[in-house]
Order: sequence, then C-alpha cells, then structure tokens
Amino acid sequence: MGAQVLVHYSTGEGEARAVVAEISKAGGRAGAVSADFSAPDGAHKLAKQVRAIVGDRLDVLVANAGISKSATIEETTVEDFDRLFAVNVRAPFFLVQQLLPILGKGSSIVLVSSLAANAAVGTLAAYAATKGAIATLVKHFASDLGERGVRVNAVAPGAIATDMSSFTKTDAGRDFTLSIQALKRLGQPDDVGDVVAFLASNEARWINGDTVRVDGGSKL
Ligand SMILES: NC(=O)c1ccc[n+]([C@@H]2O[C@H](COP(=O)([O-])OP(=O)(O)OC[C@H]3O[C@@H](n4cnc5c(N)ncnc54)[C@H](OP(=O)(O)O)[C@@H]3O)[C@@H](O)[C@H]2O)c1
Repeated sequence: MGAQVLVHYSTGEGEARAVVAEISKAGGRAGAVSADFSAPDGAHKLAKQVRAIVGDRLDVLVANAGISKSATIEETTVEDFDRLFAVNVRAPFFLVQQLLPILGKGSSIVLVSSLAANAAVGTLAAYAATKGAIATLVKHFASDLGERGVRVNAVAPGAIATDMSSFTKTDAGRDFTLSIQALKRLGQPDDVGDVVAFLASNEARWINGDTVRVDGGSKL
C-alpha cells in the first residue's frame, strides 16, 4: 500500500536493518529506529524519533516488542516483575500517549496480548498479567480514541516459533504445544503478522476494541 515503514529494535540492530533492506529491495520506504523499553523514557524517546521522521501523520502503530519470563510464583523476583510490566505494559501505554498527536482519523493501533492472558499455560503468571493488561488497555484506548477516528485492537497469539518460545524447539515443548491446540502444527510469525496486517488495514475498519485470538484453536 506504499507505506513508509519504521522498524524498531532494542538489541537486534542487524535483524532490524535486514528487515529494512528487504522492504527497500521490494521497492518500499523503510528505516530503523531504536529504543530500550526497560528505561522509563524508552517509549518517549522512540516516539520522538518517529515524529521527527514521519512528521504529522502516523497511520499504523504496531506495538509488538515484549519479553517473557517463565518462573513459578515463588521464583518470580520484584526485578523480573517490574521489567515485565515496564516493557510489556508501560512502553505500549506511553508509546500510544506520545504518538497521539500524529494519530488521526483512519489510524489503527495494534497491540500484542497472548493466549496466556486468558488461559493458564506454563509458569507464566507475571508475564500473563502483563498481557491481560494489554487486553484491558485495548478496550479503554478504543473507547477513548473512537472520537478521533482511531481504531485500537490486539492479537492474542498462542505459542509461536520465535526466539521467545524456545520451549517449542524441544520435543517435550512441541508435544505440549500441539496437545493444547486444535490445529496440529507450530504457529509461525507470519500466522500472526497476517492478522496484524488485516487489523491495521481498511478491511478491518469496523473492528474496534477487540483482541483477536491467533492460536490455531488453543485451549478450546
Ligand atoms: N512467541 C510466542 O509464543 C508469543 C506468544 C504470545 C505473545 N507473544 C508476544 O509477541 C510479541 C513478539 O514476541 P516474539 O515471540 O517475537 O519474541 P522475540 O523473538 O523475543 O522478540 C521480542 C521483540 O521485543 C523487543 N524487545 C525486547 N526487549 C525490549 C526492550 N527492553 N526494549 C525494546 N524492545 C524490546 C525485541 O527487540 P530486540 O531484538 O531488538 O532487542 C524483539 O523485537 C511479544 O509482545 C510477545 O509477548 C509471543
């Protein structure tokens, strides 16, 4: 659709630049921007960079960055808990706040929740709580921003084969994942990306304030 794309990274500069190169090679316009969301002003710094590049109009914001930590209730430290909430909840909240001046009629925000927000899977209580917070934020953001013509939705992926879900690379982890899914294969990043692209597009113009499960039918 001829959009200018900004790819955010924290530590993965090489990967971000590779995505930028891929978009450029396909004839698109892209650039990389960097910020660490564990810092209190991480989202503010990112928004400032974005506004300096795109000017007064942002059509789509996808807040995908996140961290997880598998730990029992007993094992979870205050530091783990605060870091999870900083990256997974504080950052998207303030990213939306700081980019609001350039989000307008027809703009779309997509946040990333998780299957874990609504189902007890693994030892993920603190992480799951951050994703429950995202499902809550989606409703409040959508309600508050509707008057401006801005839509806000989220995806809630099940287990997706990425760096985060290293358990899917073990036989036991894979077997467990398939045992809770109706569809018997591992979810891939594109399975989620396609739904994010749909939610961001005009085809989803009447979907607002919702969290769409993208989990192959997990924990049905
Ligand atoms: N994989 C799953 O099974 C699964 C399931 C449900 C939901 N999700 C959610 O999907 C989203 C993407 O996860 P993923 O599976 O693609 O995980 P991933 O491969 O570990 O990627 C995590 C992303 O978050 C960024 N990030 C991590 N810490 C950051 C920080 N302090 N500041 C700024 N950015 C930071 C990383 O940037 P750098 O690499 O540049 O540091 C990377 O782009 C997350 O919100 C995750 O919670 C994943």
